[in-house]
Amino acid sequence: MWLANLVAPAFLAVLASASPFEKSEGLAKRQTILPYTSYNGTLAYSPPKYPSPWGRGSGNWSAAYDKARAFVSQLTLAEKVNLTTGVGWEGEQCVGNTGSIPRLGFPSLCMQDSPLGVRFADYVSAFPAGINVAATWDRGLAYARGVAMAEEHRTKGVDVQLGPVCGPLGRAPEGGRNWEGFAPDPYLTGQLIGPTIEGIQSTGVIACTKHYILNEQEHFRQAPEAQGYGYNVTESVSSNVDDKTLHELYLWPFADAVRAGTGSIMCSYNQVNNSYGCSNSYTLNYLLKNELDFQGFVMSDWQAQHSGVSDALAGLDMTMPGDTLFLTGQSYWGTNLTIAVLNGTLPQYRLDDMAVRIMAAYYYVGRDTHYVPTNFDSWSRDTYAPIHAAVESQIGLVNQHIDARANHASIIRAIGQASTVLLKNNGALPLSGNEKWTAIIGEDAGSNPYGANGCSDRGCNNGTLAMGWGSGTSDFPYLVTPEQAIQNYILNSGKGEVFAILDNYAQSQIVTLAKQASVSLVFVNADSGEGYINVDGNEGDRKNLTLWLDGDRLIHNVTSVCNNTIVVIHSVGPVDVSAWYNNDNVTAVIWAGLPGQESGNALVDVLYGKINPGGKLPFTIGRPTDYTTSVMTTPNNGQFGAPQQDFTEGLLIDYRGFDANGIEPIYEFGFGLSYTTFSYSNLVVTPVNAAPYTPFTGQTSAAPTYGTVDTNVADYLFPNGTIERVPLYIYPYLNSTNLQASSSDPDYGLPANQYLPSGSSDSSPQPFVPAGGAPGGNPGLWATVATVQATITNTGKVAGDEVVQVYVSLGDGEPPRVLRGFERLTIAPGASVTFQAELTRKDVSTWDVASQNWVQVSNPTIYIGSSSRKLPLSAKLSGGSSSGSSSAASSGGSKSTGVPVSQISDGQIQATRTAPPVSQISDGQPQSPKSTGS
Ligand code: BGC
Repeated sequence: MWLANLVAPAFLAVLASASPFEKSEGLAKRQTILPYTSYNGTLAYSPPKYPSPWGRGSGNWSAAYDKARAFVSQLTLAEKVNLTTGVGWEGEQCVGNTGSIPRLGFPSLCMQDSPLGVRFADYVSAFPAGINVAATWDRGLAYARGVAMAEEHRTKGVDVQLGPVCGPLGRAPEGGRNWEGFAPDPYLTGQLIGPTIEGIQSTGVIACTKHYILNEQEHFRQAPEAQGYGYNVTESVSSNVDDKTLHELYLWPFADAVRAGTGSIMCSYNQVNNSYGCSNSYTLNYLLKNELDFQGFVMSDWQAQHSGVSDALAGLDMTMPGDTLFLTGQSYWGTNLTIAVLNGTLPQYRLDDMAVRIMAAYYYVGRDTHYVPTNFDSWSRDTYAPIHAAVESQIGLVNQHIDARANHASIIRAIGQASTVLLKNNGALPLSGNEKWTAIIGEDAGSNPYGANGCSDRGCNNGTLAMGWGSGTSDFPYLVTPEQAIQNYILNSGKGEVFAILDNYAQSQIVTLAKQASVSLVFVNADSGEGYINVDGNEGDRKNLTLWLDGDRLIHNVTSVCNNTIVVIHSVGPVDVSAWYNNDNVTAVIWAGLPGQESGNALVDVLYGKINPGGKLPFTIGRPTDYTTSVMTTPNNGQFGAPQQDFTEGLLIDYRGFDANGIEPIYEFGFGLSYTTFSYSNLVVTPVNAAPYTPFTGQTSAAPTYGTVDTNVADYLFPNGTIERVPLYIYPYLNSTNLQASSSDPDYGLPANQYLPSGSSDSSPQPFVPAGGAPGGNPGLWATVATVQATITNTGKVAGDEVVQVYVSLGDGEPPRVLRGFERLTIAPGASVTFQAELTRKDVSTWDVASQNWVQVSNPTIYIGSSSRKLPLSAKLSGGSSSGSSSAASSGGSKSTGVPVSQISDGQIQATRTAPPVSQISDGQPQSPKSTGS
């Protein structure tokens, strides 16, 4: 289904003719220098880092590791292999399934998309996309959504939810899958992915944080897909990045995900410095498993594995969906992994580590006590259908149609409300509902004529946009459109007339309607998604930032005759608003993002003032040419070389680029209005005397093994008498006692030293790295080194939410300011509350390439305000280890909607505040032309 419906015939031809095995890159391409050499004839390299670190049960993983080791110790070689290898595309009911262990009654594990709900299932909810969670700036809502999504996965019998997403981070504003994740700011993303993972895993479902790493565009992510579009590309794009940018930007949220305990991480399709994401020993072994001390398992993206033993040694733990390419019936692992251990190419300890990591994640989230058998089918909605869809064999009960939704509609609506960003308001909003004549204009207000799920994986842009397209979707159980909700509201609560025109091209009718309207609500959108679907020439990534369906002309047609035009944008990211945002007849602008099934209801709550908008932009809206980055759409390295995407902008993406280049955005990162106004005063930055930062030292134990491997090859022959062989299904068994004959590998017999890097099978104790030591990185990075307090006053007449933001200037070689704190506060009219945030050592450190560690910046400037450009107060943080006492700023009943700001993380030294507070030193920060009233 995934292929047949959605991929161009050329792609199918490529798949059919491709060899199931691609040669490993070999040692020649691997170099021992640090990553990143500027491309200009010289390709960037990724250095080899071996052996693959064995999990040690660090952090709070020790109990899970004890159980996992005990479980794995009982397994045969074939059973261990089965844990690591998928059964093949469409082999079972989920988008990915591992083999099972019938002897112990251990079922196949079910991997299922998506980051916003359960994909390919009925009776599930369609949650707001990650980008909307980012627009709420609310850790509590991120957690609640994580819980609710995973409850649905659990009810349907999913073991691993394939989400959340922090790669792409959002380097290019046109990036097709940015909306699946949070924001092009690593701090905001990290602060929201952590609670999302904790929410998911609190239900007993394993989270899979993806796509690791630098998967920043859809173009050229996979060569066969690119060939399907007619590109002369034979290798995936290489994202070439320097070590500092990697740490300070793209790895940052993954560190938060690991710290939050993510059970699995999906390695990505692209290459990183010319080594594939799932073959890259630097990113997997060194960064993820050593520096970030990741204790869970690495799962490949679907068909992102490119070699067998090499990938296992580079840190891959589970291959999905198990076949080399879809429906080949061949696997790099499965039988070949069994063979590799039997012939000694892969050391037993590595396979044991793979199995232990998988089982540790299972126990870590408590899956052993939450198990539910899979009761839905990704490939059919029929109650009875083939169990093995790939070959249409064994009809059975596949869909039990269990309703998993509970009361999640209310969370969805709450996130929709909280993520609505008010960009402009000349007093037009809120509406009363008694407007004499309300016009609803634009296709984006209405239903998809094919039905909300009428386009597979949402691969079209018909009707209102409530999620993007691709695997990051779920089917809608219903979709409340803006047209339905607005009309309903007016009919039930108002007095006026209400009419809708949903055809963007009905120009004369639109002009006639808008002329008479007291208010025209114009709906526009811009869509994007995953690279295997092309919508209107947008091959996953957007072609540009222009509104779809001639949105600019639609707005123009209305504003030319109506002086009360309110524009509502549903989009996957920034859009070009330059043609109309400052037109006087545009009296209000709302960005509503991708709100999911409750779209219309959440919007109505804001339009008519039941809810005071408090969302803030999780990206910058600027003129298209003002961004520092864009998607690469033309391969630049010949037919046989991977396209080279050099991240030459370094740290300067999104607002960091605008700030560094002195370019005024239209609506800046962090910006959003309210129906009330806020003022900021009394900034107090207090250094905290944290324990000194200690580089992590020491070494691991030698690699452990669990159980013994039976070396009698005949014991691994396919058990013909016991199980019926399903065609194309991936098994761990052999067809012959001749290992070479059993492997379909054309390279079989190549001496290991010709393709395996030195040290890759070493089982001796290995050194830790200075920035490592605990899941997420060196625990000292989370020591609190300063507190930030300020007084926020609601100066208007209605209660409202303010997202108070803290930015830090880290000095030379860094962006002018980076986000390092925020809290969403609800404040009553006339009331003042105390905002408080804690800065960790990592928040005020930069990555030092030479020492491979974080180094604290001295005397950084701290800014506080309502957006990245509206920062009325600032102060210097002096020292970092000064002592003294401080008087806290006055407190006024602040209501935290997320993690309490006063909470000191585990293991922190409590603040000894003996230094006098550093007072505010300036208040003249760059102001944006817009007014938040503060
Ligand atoms: C996507 C993943 C997804 C997987 C399974 C891949 O193409 O990149 O995000 O989880 O398919 O559907």
